[in-house]
Amino acid sequence: MLHIAPPLSPDDWRWLADIWRREWGGETVVTKGHMHRLTDLLAVIAWNEDARVGAATFAVGRDACELISANSMVVRKGIGTALLRAVEAEAQALGCQRIRLTITNDNLDALRFYQKQGYRLTRLYPGGVHTSRKLKADPPEIGRHGIPIRDELEMEKELCSPAA
Ligand SMILES: CC(C)(COP(=O)(O)OP(=O)(O)OC[C@H]1O[C@@H](n2cnc3c(N)ncnc32)[C@H](O)[C@@H]1OP(=O)(O)O)[C@@H](O)C(=O)NCCC(=O)NCCS
Repeated sequence: MLHIAPPLSPDDWRWLADIWRREWGGETVVTKGHMHRLTDLLAVIAWNEDARVGAATFAVGRDACELISANSMVVRKGIGTALLRAVEAEAQALGCQRIRLTITNDNLDALRFYQKQGYRLTRLYPGGVHTSRKLKADPPEIGRHGIPIRDELEMEKELCSPAA
């Protein structure tokens, strides 16, 4: 049975750091020229019984929440959807009116996934990855499906106002 919880223990944070190192090349992620450090972010972890099976990290601004990372250890089992629901609920509870995220041009699975979750494309940053590489020598030149990684795509979803 899947459940979502914030990281509570040092083990949870160590596991998150491992995921980031493996999936994002370190404990920082650069989007749109800004560096995000794992330790500065809020996070949720997906658990299946007593196993960690996914994680999402996010930052809460004045009126928008920025989703920084989402990772499923087993794809197409509903983990990503559950993580997104949890982040959206938390963002809404913290007063955010919208949630935003950035993906790279090669991430076709994420492009499909987020659109089906109600996210709209809001901005294109042509060559945005080049700018990000100046701050962090990552990601690689060639990404998923053999597509050169060059551009950043911003996506956004309006969150409903909390019930009065
Ligand atoms: C993007 C990502 C987080 C999605 O996670 P996920 O766990 O696969 O997400 P879900 O299982 O909830 O949904 C994915 C698809 O599986 C389908 N699905 C969900 N449960 C399913 C099941 N039991 N059987 C079959 N399909 C199922 C969903 O309908 C969805 O289909 P869609 O994309 O056509 O809408 C995941 O692919 C991932 O970790 N990618 C690598 C990291 C990344 O790129 N993250 C995004 C940028 S931050």
